[in-house]
Amino acid sequence: MSGADDLLFDPSLIPASCSESLGSDLELRPLRASDGDRGHLELLTVLTVAPKLSSQSYADTFNHLRSCPNTYFTIVIIVSCGSIIIERKFVRSSGLVGHIEDIAVSKSMQGRKLGLKIINTLEEVGRGQGVYKIILDCSKENIPFYEKCGFKHKEYEMVRYI
Ligand code: ACO
Repeated sequence: MSGADDLLFDPSLIPASCSESLGSDLELRPLRASDGDRGHLELLTVLTVAPKLSSQSYADTFNHLRSCPNTYFTIVIIVSCGSIIIERKFVRSSGLVGHIEDIAVSKSMQGRKLGLKIINTLEEVGRGQGVYKIILDCSKENIPFYEKCGFKHKEYEMVRYI
């Protein structure tokens, strides 16, 4: 399967201006069902533990995300990726909040503004969906990166591993 029907979401939701500012050698697109075979999990190891999944597990996860309409938007630029997950609230007149997750740029490509480009594109996708704010959790070391992306510090993250 290849073409638009194996993409996580409709590529027209990514504004053309986001792709145009990349070099012509880099393709910006939604996650593809076959990206498990193209190093998606290896890329995520810059972020956290991301053991290889069987083809079936990768496909099941991809299909689960795709079966939730207007919720999971994962984009890739071959050597980098990131997601925005759209959450509908009861507050703010049933407002939408975007959660940015799993931003990863492969080690050899870091420092070339690909992280910034991923964030800018996810913001545009979120804006297109009508979110009123975008939030994310990050390490202290990554605060300067997100500040350069226009984010500011607010609140604290809590976690409980189950
Ligand atoms: N400390 C200080 N400044 C930084 C840092 C940092 N750790 N990282 C990037 N910057 C600055 C850059 O110098 C640049 O500044 P400039 O515009 O003045 O030149 C600006 O931020 C944009 O940097 P990019 O080149 O776009 O950053 P890059 O492509 O390397 O991506 C990222 C940054 C995503 C943090 C990358 O280093 C990475 O993948 N790290 C490992 C995984 C990770 O920590 N991901 C984020 C997890 S948090 C989350 O997913 C919500």
